[in-house]
Amino acid sequence: MSHWWEHAVVYQVYVRSFADANGDGLGDLEGLRGRLDHIAALGVDAIWMTPIYPSPQLDHGYDVADYFAIDPIHGDLAAFDRLVADANALGLRVLLDIVPNHCSREHPWFLEALAAAPGSDARARFYFRDGKADGSPPNNWRAIFGGSVWTPVGGDDPQWYLGTFTPYQPDLDHTHPDVDAMFADALRFWFDRGVDGFRVDATPPVGKTPGLPDAPPLAPGEFNPHTRFRPEGHEVWRRWRSVIDEYMATHPGRELMMVSEAYAPRRPDLMAEYVRPDEFHQCFAFDLLMSPWHGPSMRRALADAVEHVAAHGTWPTIALNNHDAQRIVTRLAHDGITSPDAWTGDNLRAAEGEVDLVVGTRRARAAAGLLLALPGSVYLYQGEELGLPEVLDLPDELRQDPVFANTGGDKKGRDGCRVPLPWTASPVGSHGFSVTEGDDVAEPWLPQPADWGRYAADTQVDDESSMLSLYRRLLAARRSHLGRSEPGTTALIDDHDDLIVLRRGDVLIVCNVGAGPVDCAAVAGRAPLLTTDPSGTRGGTVVDRDTTVWFS
Ligand code: GLC
Repeated sequence: MSHWWEHAVVYQVYVRSFADANGDGLGDLEGLRGRLDHIAALGVDAIWMTPIYPSPQLDHGYDVADYFAIDPIHGDLAAFDRLVADANALGLRVLLDIVPNHCSREHPWFLEALAAAPGSDARARFYFRDGKADGSPPNNWRAIFGGSVWTPVGGDDPQWYLGTFTPYQPDLDHTHPDVDAMFADALRFWFDRGVDGFRVDATPPVGKTPGLPDAPPLAPGEFNPHTRFRPEGHEVWRRWRSVIDEYMATHPGRELMMVSEAYAPRRPDLMAEYVRPDEFHQCFAFDLLMSPWHGPSMRRALADAVEHVAAHGTWPTIALNNHDAQRIVTRLAHDGITSPDAWTGDNLRAAEGEVDLVVGTRRARAAAGLLLALPGSVYLYQGEELGLPEVLDLPDELRQDPVFANTGGDKKGRDGCRVPLPWTASPVGSHGFSVTEGDDVAEPWLPQPADWGRYAADTQVDDESSMLSLYRRLLAARRSHLGRSEPGTTALIDDHDDLIVLRRGDVLIVCNVGAGPVDCAAVAGRAPLLTTDPSGTRGGTVVDRDTTVWFS
């Protein structure tokens, strides 16, 4: 039996930056509902919305204060129901984002824990521990967004609490029965409202080594084995899977899924553990999103993604962009990105230096031609279909991402890929981002660059050479020419160092990442079906630099 998600293309909506219906400068559900036709016209299967739950918004919704409601800045449950109904009517399924590792420090449970005594049940839902005798924190673990994971409760309280990301995102202890029960209820609550599945945020830190021992010395790129990829975490996912399976058994016709967000750089073995048959349906393979524009590096990323999950009888799940990484147009615009040394294995460590957006755009087109030819599931991030570059010159005082503040500016953070979308060439309403009429429309929460109008959806829609037209063509060709493939049947052909050559049934896809044109022997006797080169195909078996051609 086949499932809708197996080969689905999912469009990620960063709700805060997609469209703003009430003119307050922040995206909302009604804004999204008003622009669903753009997503449907692309020809994707589903949307995934970043967290829309009540939140102090210190990590823009990834600090959840209530898992059973909608933040008033985005709307309410009635708006949510209207959105799901309209999306479904357009043939789009709806995925939510759920954040299991931590909640907000304003979640009622955490407020209760702070007010309770050390050793209380209220504190056992989190990781509260005494500090060491010398006054230092309970252990040496480091936070992902900078600093120690430990924050002292303060006052006379001897305890510290653990936050893997920031002090305002306290980690939940999933061995506490309340935590388990609450998330099972949350899954069912949103399934009852028509949701088709969840993107599960930050899965590796869920579950810790009992006793929370110090981490061993770690080389750069190594992860702390006491708080990443733990077997205790996988037990949680098995319980979640059984909640989903039970729900489907009692609700015939519903086909639900969950996808794991786990960065496991060049550790496909760890990634593949998430897609064991009793765990996740999908797990993102992120190596391509972090890969240099370099043949062997990209082939490795693809082979790892495709082959390791095939061993579990399933397909890869790949994205080139998301709300946590530098936009690909800019990432690939860096000169040094063609070197294998450009691999950092860290999505938060953006490429730096001079950029050439003409080159970056050409490469991003070629990358899209490769991405949309892959077997399995593909996730797109809002604005990549418009070819938006990263906004690099946001003034530091306007940056909102905790990554910037918590690393003392060492990492610029993720604001540059979250700038509100341009819908119209006309600057009215922040290029159509704020759709309300009138003079009292607020500035968008991050400023749009002066030239944002050239990327607007309405500028691109009738231009055959635009990124938007390319995405539409690729998505249409994916549907008409590629269809299903069984796990393990996609061949990566080693033809030339600079070429990524992929066989999908009758179609050969060739992506040239080298510095000049290459004659591709593997495609002899075939005709080009489409090219990512804005000036069209050149015919024959030659593939130009920074170009992907599909041959049949
Ligand atoms: C995930 C999210 C990211 C968030 C973090 C903490 O990596 O994608 O945006 O900041 O988790 O929840």
